[in-house]
Amino acid sequence: MAGPAAQTSTGTPVELRFPKNFWWGAATAAYQIEGAVRAAGRAPSIWDTFSAAPGRVAGGDTGEHATDHYHRHRHDVDLMAELGLTAYRFSVAWPRVRTGTGGVNQAGLAFYDRLVDDLLAADIQPVATLYHWDLPQELEDAGGWTHRDTAARFGEYAAVVAARLGDRVRMWNTLNEPWCSAFLGYGIGVHAPGRRDQAAALRAVHHLLLAHGHGTAALRAAGVTGGVSLALNGGTVRPRRDTPADRAAARRIDGLLNRIFLDPLLRGAYPADVLADTAALTDWSFVRDGDLALIAARLDALCVNYYQPDLVSDPGDHHDPGTPYPGAEGVRFHPTPGPVTAMGWSIDPTGLRDLLLRLTRDYDVPPLYVAENGAAYPDEVTPDGRVRDVERLDYLHRHLAAAHDAITAGVDLRGYFVWSLLDNFEWAYGYDKRFGLIHVDYRTQRRTVKDSGRWYGRAIARGGVDRPR
Ligand code: FCB
Repeated sequence: MAGPAAQTSTGTPVELRFPKNFWWGAATAAYQIEGAVRAAGRAPSIWDTFSAAPGRVAGGDTGEHATDHYHRHRHDVDLMAELGLTAYRFSVAWPRVRTGTGGVNQAGLAFYDRLVDDLLAADIQPVATLYHWDLPQELEDAGGWTHRDTAARFGEYAAVVAARLGDRVRMWNTLNEPWCSAFLGYGIGVHAPGRRDQAAALRAVHHLLLAHGHGTAALRAAGVTGGVSLALNGGTVRPRRDTPADRAAARRIDGLLNRIFLDPLLRGAYPADVLADTAALTDWSFVRDGDLALIAARLDALCVNYYQPDLVSDPGDHHDPGTPYPGAEGVRFHPTPGPVTAMGWSIDPTGLRDLLLRLTRDYDVPPLYVAENGAAYPDEVTPDGRVRDVERLDYLHRHLAAAHDAITAGVDLRGYFVWSLLDNFEWAYGYDKRFGLIHVDYRTQRRTVKDSGRWYGRAIARGGVDRPR
């Protein structure tokens, strides 16, 4: 547990010291960094299709080349070692592993095999996410996440990856942020596959959770040595005013953001209020006997990704047909007062602390990890070869301090991963939004460690951070 200020090997006292075996990580996702979309038999994914369609991604950007990590992963692991990371969260691209006709592509798996070995050789714990949004296009053509069979296909894929990497991956995330896959991908269509059907999005929620269930069963059956988990975009939802209408809005959004996933996973049932709130869109008859038992199988850890809290109201006269929250057209979202990042996201570390405390208070949770946290800013390399990203450094500092506050208050938090290791393809925003600890010049693929990366490296070496002013 967090102790008092302690003298570290570097000689500087640390005020906020993290537990001894805390995982200090950074995270990425396959489609955002790998490039090489046709290498070694990789099949097309929904993100190849979506980003190639005009008007879907800012600037017409695609992941075709991205940061070329597929060819540069050794150098990137060297950079991770230079920062002193003790863990690295990457994702396996399903379309590298599954051939376009449903077979297994061993050549695609070989890439992850090498990556995992390189990480272990550098003393960095490999954390593998099986699904970070790149559904094979062939499965989307068969119905995608609105189709129940996709969940079973995911279980088969998990078994294949587990057979190859199960002896060396230290932690598994079956899914990353199923909320985004379902609501952004199938509900409002701003992510691949670009469908706009809120009833379909609710089906997708269930089939994604079912995929997690099948994936968990497959990982367990394969006898993987690493723990089994998934990463949710957990949020802290706050009413703007303390009125019945705003409190009801907060309850509704909390239901559709957090409890719609947490309750089936940790309590084996969908929340009654969420079923009622969405009754006009679906009767949930796609939930079959036995599904919830599969979904609620034991987790070894729960990973949460946190960027900003949600401040909501229900003014009574608002109607947003484009809301990603099915049936919540009357709810209005407000920025929290204060600065925002280049994404326009509010900076409020208390939301991270409160999220971790809430999970611990309301659920019987396994150990927690922050699997993503970070900020985009318009960074530039100056002629002296530095990136002075003071705002990102401050963001990370304050969020690490908030995570420490949660630990002090009794939360069993075992690790923290910065989003992201490298600048990368930020989905519908393209390359314009930079989240990395390491700057990437997309013309030359030159990497430059930012000041925030150096600062994070020092925090890792010290085992903690000072209390931010
Ligand atoms: C999360 C995604 C991640 C990245 C960050 C900024 O929702 O999991 O891939 O895009 O946001």
